Amino acid sequence: MINPSNAPTSRFLRDAGMEPGMRVLDIGCANGILTRELAQLLGKNGHVHGVDSNEDRLADARSQPAEPEQASITYENVDLSGSLPDWEPFDAIVGRRILMYLPDAAETVRRLTALLKTDGLMIFQEHSATGMPFAAGPIPQHRQAHDWLWRMIAAEDGTITMGLEFPKLLEKAALDIAHYRAEVIMLGSASDQGIEDVANYMVDRVIEAGVADRETIQPDSLTERLVAERQKASPIAWDMAYLICGTKRS
Ligand SMILES: C[S@@+](CC[C@H](N)C(=O)[O-])C[C@H]1O[C@@H](n2cnc3c(N)ncnc32)[C@H](O)[C@@H]1O
Repeated sequence: MINPSNAPTSRFLRDAGMEPGMRVLDIGCANGILTRELAQLLGKNGHVHGVDSNEDRLADARSQPAEPEQASITYENVDLSGSLPDWEPFDAIVGRRILMYLPDAAETVRRLTALLKTDGLMIFQEHSATGMPFAAGPIPQHRQAHDWLWRMIAAEDGTITMGLEFPKLLEKAALDIAHYRAEVIMLGSASDQGIEDVANYMVDRVIEAGVADRETIQPDSLTERLVAERQKASPIAWDMAYLICGTKRS
């Protein structure tokens, strides 16, 4: 599954000053999609340490083959809501869609800051449900799917406005904001835009969270409904990715 909302990350990592040879911590690495992208960017002299609290996702990440010209990768099971291991300081700490799941993201960012070298980079990508999605014409199917997904996250105690809370979080951790950007994820009319995969993948979670039942969602025709609406109503501004880079003061 390729999540279209991941596209802005690699551009931002480069703009923020990530360089070959760095030692980087990837928080909430899940099955290592971003971890492997970081390893490619950091090259063979770099290192990425991916951490997550879900052992199944870590096992999936560990099962991926290592690439010879890329940075070495290690993984560790860590609960980011508690106290953190005594790691050697990192050149950069990166996280994508992880702060939204933490009970006290500000406290975690504060603890992570202690693990960053002076002038080190704290880089996050998060999203916000606020104001999305929109298009020039009506898009009831996309609005409905968006609403189910974000209500599911809220029902799971996730924060649905995290991208807009970045400045506050970095300020509390005494980090200086070097870059702060929002990028809209646009959907065109082509049938495969990735969001159908995301929506279908989430159906069981939406039901489990009590947001909507199977009868209401009608998963068998979900893809077809979204694709048909996009053919009439695209382009659709589907999601907003917020990206921030903070630096640690001396
Ligand atoms: C949306 S996924 C992250 C995706 C990944 N960063 C990427 O970009 O491919 C969120 C991850 O956060 C992890 N997570 C949630 N709460 C956590 C916690 N308290 N400590 C560590 N990991 C946690 C989940 O296990 C899950 O793998």
